[in-house]
Amino acid sequence: MTGKSRWTDDKDDAVVAAQRKKEREEKKRAKAEKQRRIEEAQLRHQNEARPGSTPNGHEDSDRPAKRRKVTPGADEQHGESQPRELLRFDASGWGPCRHVDNFERLNHIEEGSYGWVSRARETATGEIVALKKLKMDNLNDGFPITAMREIQTLMQASHLHIVELREIVVGTSLNDVFMVMEFLEHDLKTLQEDMSEPFAPSELKTILLQLTSAVAYLHFHWILHRDLKTSNILMNNRGEIKVADFGMARFTGDPPPALTQLVVTLWYRAPELLLGTTTYDSAIDMWSLGCIFAELLTKEPLFQGSRELDQLLKIFDLLGPPTTESWPTFRRLPNARAMKLPPSPSPHLSPQQSLRRKFPILTGSGVSLLASLLSLNPEHRLTAEETLQHEYFRDEPRPKSKSMMPTFPSKAGQERRRRRASPNAPQRGDAPKIDGNMDSGGIFGRREDIEGGAGFQLKMG
Ligand SMILES: Nc1ncnc2c1ncn2[C@@H]1O[C@H](COP(=O)(O)OP(=O)(O)OP(=O)(O)O)[C@@H](O)[C@H]1O
Ligand SMILES: [Mg+2]
Repeated sequence: MTGKSRWTDDKDDAVVAAQRKKEREEKKRAKAEKQRRIEEAQLRHQNEARPGSTPNGHEDSDRPAKRRKVTPGADEQHGESQPRELLRFDASGWGPCRHVDNFERLNHIEEGSYGWVSRARETATGEIVALKKLKMDNLNDGFPITAMREIQTLMQASHLHIVELREIVVGTSLNDVFMVMEFLEHDLKTLQEDMSEPFAPSELKTILLQLTSAVAYLHFHWILHRDLKTSNILMNNRGEIKVADFGMARFTGDPPPALTQLVVTLWYRAPELLLGTTTYDSAIDMWSLGCIFAELLTKEPLFQGSRELDQLLKIFDLLGPPTTESWPTFRRLPNARAMKLPPSPSPHLSPQQSLRRKFPILTGSGVSLLASLLSLNPEHRLTAEETLQHEYFRDEPRPKSKSMMPTFPSKAGQERRRRRASPNAPQRGDAPKIDGNMDSGGIFGRREDIEGGAGFQLKMG
């Protein structure tokens, strides 16, 4: 057997030894640098600690510091002259979570897809809060990403019309993680089910303005909610609504990162998502907002599809199918490529006219706003900022002041609620494909038989 000569080995060994020595020296230098930075950071945090705060950054009340407001362009402060640093977690406010025993559970409110919500009282202060126990389905895979995102986005979002996440508390087992939130008496879905009449136009405007201001805030800070629906919008008896349930929310950017398709509860899901786009943006939340607007007018969800294809067809039924003029890039979407579109159910009606016919009580500016939110082409959909400026809110009747908003008895405060059937928020996973070869012309005639798309379980009771 012929091996390498001693001479070659010696030379190789020398090269390897030199390389190792270099690596050791680099490691030593990096370690010293790291230590220097840690000491520098410690010094900085000591100087920045607010007067009255405890060493772990908690307020005097022993509660974690309030949520930090997200400042746009915060990292722009680092000019060219500043040394570039790796992004680090700001752990200055971190400390151990309190135990859930600090709260006394009063009553169960609701079980959702991602958690169990109860009303509770903080023993020390007597304050009423909502406790959401997070579902830890696959703990072997680590802390669930949905729970991480819910905590992260809600911690960062500080707005009058976004539910306040006060702290995270834990139980004895690893599975016991709870979000402590401000308690609100109602969610819009349950509330509407008990109302004999829909909200009056002036009340609807107040609700829609508050909701839109929260969505504008989220979008401004690059957060997509991705599950806006009436059951995720809470209302208190002081005329305020607050956006809740950030289980599907995530940070995005421009251009957006690769995003999962299976987001937003079916009835509130935008057509581009139903057609399989992976590059979506804040316009998907604006579609949901349009669906909520319509639901508040009649107390009935607008598009109640049974599956993805049925959902799309219900949308096209009301607004007409997309055309190359109205949505030039529509055909490029994965599920649209081979889809045969039905003829428009009412070819002589524009989406605006069709909406006017469906919602005769809505004013002209209201119809125009609704049509702009329910634009099939996401590029034509109004942004949250544009919605806030819409003439609908300046027309008579003007939005009602918060103090004049009606109040209702709170079910969440007293008894377990029962709900009518409605689809759940989507589970994480691959988005279903709609079979593009389906002839939707035929499908329009027999919707009940549609087999396309993934099934959605209806939540009974
Ligand atoms: N802060 C709160 N105050 C009062 N009730 C709340 C609060 N947060 C949530 N709820 C109630 O609990 C319900 C479920 O909460 P949430 O939507 O956060 O959970 P989820 O598991 O993500 O739900 P789903 O998957 O059904 O959307 C809400 O629809 C609302 O009725
Ligand atoms: Mg929810």
